Amino acid sequence: MTLHEMIYHRKSCRSFTNVPVDGAMIETIKAFPMKPLYPEIKVHWDIAARNQVKCICPWTTPQLITIYSEETDGWLENVGFLFQQMDLYLQSLGLGVCWLGMGRMNPKTATEVAGMKFVIMLAFGHPKGDRLRHDLKDFKRKTLEQIADQADPRLEPARLAPSAVNSQPWYFTHEGDAIHTYRIPNDRLSHMNQIDMGIALAHLYLANEENFQFVKSENHTNVSGYDYVGSVTL
Ligand SMILES: Cc1cc2nc3c(=O)[nH]c(=O)nc-3n(C[C@H](O)[C@H](O)[C@H](O)COP(=O)(O)O)c2cc1C
Repeated sequence: MTLHEMIYHRKSCRSFTNVPVDGAMIETIKAFPMKPLYPEIKVHWDIAARNQVKCICPWTTPQLITIYSEETDGWLENVGFLFQQMDLYLQSLGLGVCWLGMGRMNPKTATEVAGMKFVIMLAFGHPKGDRLRHDLKDFKRKTLEQIADQADPRLEPARLAPSAVNSQPWYFTHEGDAIHTYRIPNDRLSHMNQIDMGIALAHLYLANEENFQFVKSENHTNVSGYDYVGSVTL
């Protein structure tokens, strides 16, 4: 399946065999190219062993992708955008994946990355049982009408995006060719929801690889109660 096709089938996996992913597959994963939302923001990622992280989930996998970034405007959206491509890629390899907002680096075993801050991790590994969705009805999501000023079918890939506690913090408005993207503010989930916005934008990118363009426009239209993230053309 292509990454675009995977958008309509993916789901978070929380049931894994304890068998580590082998070295050849790890090398393939490390070579996967990801397109950034903000190319100027430096990001570092690695594959960590279970003892390098702290997470209360009982199902945490033997290996995890740990992600660091420079802390600057757009850094969290950039991480979401980059690593949602990885999430879909890992699933296209037959692996199970789950974003792990509750994961932390273990200060006793993890090494610091100079000039960067730890952002989030992805648990991945060999799944137990069926890891995909086979029907769109199996996605628990808001409707197109709820997430935008018009029910635009081009927004379907963003609608299906995963988000922290399934909060789906996105709202879209249309103006000419542009689709403006907003985040619904939520103090408790602000950090995670900025990552979520990047994830939804990654789905729009993968569904429109040829034409996708993202800009943060200085003279965007404000929508009361929402935080502007950027504008896309598809
Ligand atoms: C940024 C982010 C953080 C998440 N953190 C966790 C987590 O700590 N633990 C967990 O079990 N699921 C976590 N999830 C998975 C979400 O709960 C899941 O994506 C959402 O409920 C939608 O379900 P789906 O991914 O199966 O479509 C996270 C997802 C995102 C995008």
